[in-house]
Amino acid sequence: AYVVTENCIKCKYQDCVDVCPVDCFYEGENFLVINPDECIDCGVCEPECPAEAIMPDSEEAAAPWREINRKYADLWPNISRKGTVPEEASLWNGKPDKARLFSE
Ligand code: SF4
Ligand code: F3S
Repeated sequence: AYVVTENCIKCKYQDCVDVCPVDCFYEGENFLVINPDECIDCGVCEPECPAEAIMPDSEEAAAPWREINRKYADLWPNISRKGTVPEEASLWNGKPDKARLFSE
């Protein structure tokens, strides 16, 4: 499966949501996750993310995010259409150490 990783936090551009053929994204306050059991590994979301936050779960940088995607996909509501992008998204894009800002 593909996973959403750290740089999505506080960016949440949601371009990924609009292209997913199986609507397997779930929305938290400042982050999105992918349900790994629903993702069909098509890969179309990966190049759409302006924050380059999406990657295959086999990548090393994805490791800390695998369980987070699985866990919160069960807890958060599904999102199938792009909504409002956070006002300061571009300011947060690429900022280091965003993991501590993750909102449940
Ligand atoms: Fe959806 Fe495909 Fe991205 Fe998986 S890889 S989340 S199925 S767009
Ligand atoms: Fe996040 Fe990128 Fe989607 S910033 S909401 S993974 S387009």
